[in-house]
Amino acid sequence: MKPLTFPGGWERIVTSEEFPIITTLRSVMQYLEPGAVRELHWHPNADEWQYYISGHSRVTVFGAHGRAKPEEFVAGQIAFIQQGFGHYVEQVGSEPTKFFALFNSPTFEEISITKWLAGNPASIISDDFLIAKEEVSRLPRKALGIVK
Ligand SMILES: [Fe+2]
Repeated sequence: MKPLTFPGGWERIVTSEEFPIITTLRSVMQYLEPGAVRELHWHPNADEWQYYISGHSRVTVFGAHGRAKPEEFVAGQIAFIQQGFGHYVEQVGSEPTKFFALFNSPTFEEISITKWLAGNPASIISDDFLIAKEEVSRLPRKALGIVK
């Protein structure tokens, strides 16, 4: 599988398109360089299980009403992110992080915070986040993936 590469790492996504025999799952192998962050995103159609293969990472999950919970993970541990909950992964150790993620849906759906912000009128973003419209216009317009 050819990886999707980003400034802070890469990911390989396998869905039912690549393997039609897979009718209930999709999987993603992710690699984060030291100091990298998998940008805030959520999956509208699936729960996510992450199995940590190497490295040390902090996963923060957001719920409604401003709830956020960070937890740290190392090799051999599993993180669970419920469908629709925003989350991001920070690589916090000196060694790269590699983890495998499974989703209980054969198709891959993801909404990144950058795409979500770009898809809303600047006036709403400006009013809701109390930032100037000029700043909103400078926000990224497409998903960043893994940043560093
Ligand atoms: Fe995710």
